Amino acid sequence: MALSLIAALLIGLFAWQPEDLYLWIKALHIVAVISWMAGLLYMPRLFIYHTDAEPGSAQSETFKMMEQRLLKVIMNPAMMITWVLGLYLAWDLYGFRGGWLHAKLLLVVLLTLIHVHFSRAVEVFKRDENRRGARYWRVMNEAPTLLMILIVILVVVKPF
Ligand code: HEM
Repeated sequence: MALSLIAALLIGLFAWQPEDLYLWIKALHIVAVISWMAGLLYMPRLFIYHTDAEPGSAQSETFKMMEQRLLKVIMNPAMMITWVLGLYLAWDLYGFRGGWLHAKLLLVVLLTLIHVHFSRAVEVFKRDENRRGARYWRVMNEAPTLLMILIVILVVVKPF
């Protein structure tokens, strides 16, 4: 539903070509970023609780369903929209130039690697093969937060 709305908005915007098109794109970029970050921050929390659940128990099966839905319905589409719109802005506004932009891109690549790590973990949990402890997932919970803080400072302050 939300995905179709964003797609319809984008098609309408490119057909209409308003003067402030980039502001509309930036607004949708931020909406996608918020959705992606919500997933990246919530997923390791689910892993922490899942680690303590007995494999095969009703609780464990519920966590599996929650993790798969979070990944497929929210995180994957939100990540793709963030990338597509972010790259459009980087090309349209800055021609891919700027130290802050290159640093931001590097940190977003790291964020994407964390996303890939989480999506592999969803498959591992699905097969009841997780060997990592709750402490590991607690530490992994901090990584997207730290990257998000640095990314937002880079794009808003543009310190270099
Ligand atoms: C996927 C790759 C990404 C690219 C290529 C990208 C690129 C850009 C560009 C070029 C802008 C416009 C900056 C301006 O108006 O001066 C922008 C805006 C913004 N981006 Fe990204 N971005 C990406 C991902 C992210 C992520 C992961 C976050 C947050 C965790 C983020 C947060 C923001 C915010 C908050 C703004 C609005 C800044 C402002 O208007 O001052 N972006 N992005």
